[in-house]
Amino acid sequence: MAPSLPKAGIFFDRDGTLIEDRGYLRSPSDVVFYRETISALQKLKDRFLLFIVTNQSGIGLGVLTPEEVEEVNRFIVNTLAQAGVAISAVYVCPHTRDQGCECAKPNSDFLLKASEAFHVDLLRSYVIGDHPHDVEFALRVGARAVYVLTGHGERHTSEMVSGSDVFVAKNMDEAVTWILGYSPWDEQKEKIEQAARVIHQGGLVAFPTETVYGLGADTFQPLAVARIFEVKRRPHFDPLIVHVARHEDVEKLVVDVPAEAWTLANRFWPGPLTLVLQKKERVPDIVTAGLPTVAVRMPNHPLALDLIRESGSPIAAPSANPFGYLSPTTAQHVREQLGNEVDLVLDGGPCQIGVESTILSFLEEKPRLLRPGGLSLEEIESVIGPVEVSASKESRPVSPGMLPKHYAPRTPIVVDQQARGDSYRNKRVGLLSFRGPQGSLSFQHVEILSEQGDLRQAAANLFAALRRLDASNLDLIVAEPMPETGLGLAIMDRLRRASHHEDFTQCEK
Ligand code: TXA
Ligand code: MG
Repeated sequence: MAPSLPKAGIFFDRDGTLIEDRGYLRSPSDVVFYRETISALQKLKDRFLLFIVTNQSGIGLGVLTPEEVEEVNRFIVNTLAQAGVAISAVYVCPHTRDQGCECAKPNSDFLLKASEAFHVDLLRSYVIGDHPHDVEFALRVGARAVYVLTGHGERHTSEMVSGSDVFVAKNMDEAVTWILGYSPWDEQKEKIEQAARVIHQGGLVAFPTETVYGLGADTFQPLAVARIFEVKRRPHFDPLIVHVARHEDVEKLVVDVPAEAWTLANRFWPGPLTLVLQKKERVPDIVTAGLPTVAVRMPNHPLALDLIRESGSPIAAPSANPFGYLSPTTAQHVREQLGNEVDLVLDGGPCQIGVESTILSFLEEKPRLLRPGGLSLEEIESVIGPVEVSASKESRPVSPGMLPKHYAPRTPIVVDQQARGDSYRNKRVGLLSFRGPQGSLSFQHVEILSEQGDLRQAAANLFAALRRLDASNLDLIVAEPMPETGLGLAIMDRLRRASHHEDFTQCEK
């Protein structure tokens, strides 16, 4: 028989997490379990070794005796045992914070001890507690952490470190749901590595999120992103959401994160909330449809997070459905709808939320709701106060045309079959060419989208080329028509709209 995998462990803080925090507990009669504690532990007991880690500084202060603490702990362990839940060990730190102990901090000694004594795999383990310290000592040894808002939790949220290995849960029930959602995927490492290679090499991966399945590409590979539009057969470009796995990654994408946006990210990420912020120059135009802003979110699905982390780059993704269809909420939907056009489909089971993320914009003084979604407005407003709700309360995404249009070409555009500069007398004319101009034509500025005639490459270059033309002080931009197949349809749609309206972004629908 193959040796069994080392087990993962769960380390529970005692007061404020398993039982109510009622000051110094001297005897079993002081113990009050939270309503969810026992049922939650029952769901975990077969998959994990369970431990209790508790700081009892009352001992260090001389207010509690070690015996009193032990009696209380024994009572807790026995009560749980009667409910079929075995606790492998209880670790007590008797020190106060200023005694600089080595028990739980800074070297997370208890976790290392447990790992040795019980053969616990810390990388697949969790700490659940109601204090930021609990989170810290989990991360220090590579474990994941759940921060519960029971006990002290609500009071310390601002001190919390955040990241995809940290989950903030209202109570133990939510904590368990997150952990059970996470752990089965720990065994899918190989598939995730393969998917990450596909992303890295410029391919497309359909992946699960908690809302809907996404069709992802490396944000920083414009050609790969262009293929998303091709596969979805979108008749026009729509800005994509960029998915990150760590809060720090947001700084690679946006210029500035307003305090309220951080507050929401710390509270609701990973989760169904997308923030629209001012983008950095380096985010390719094809990702944002030429807008000066980028939509960012951290999805709450372990496979998505692992994929993003493993591929080493934020992943740009719309929902993984062909244009005009319902968003997919299972891997099977994706396979049926997009079949072989996707390089790899990661199956993470049915999506937990099933509607797309809520989109909030932070470009004006007050945050504005652009799309209602998986996170309710009430929840958002309970954290940052009132949010502007767009005049139209419809559930459809608000057109990006509503946003400030820094990059909108001011120069009129015409789509012209026989594009020749000299037919526009006395005018400064620029050419947007598909494969390169035929013959000698007199244009002030020429942009070539793809010498190889590759529509995907053309799409990837379109917005940047238009921007350069717009900056060339021209009276007119002449665009050659392109074949209306594949991404050509999207390119032509944008060019036609631009030629009908002087303002390029206004016509984006
Ligand atoms: O839950 C979700 O958000 C899913 C999963 C895969 O993350 N994604 C999703 O993507 O619904 P998609 O492309 O179907 O919808 C994204 C919408 C776009 O239609 C667009 O209106 C909006 O996000 N959006 C993206 N970037 C924007 C920006 N810079 N400004 C305003 N809106 C933006
Ligand atoms: Mg506590």
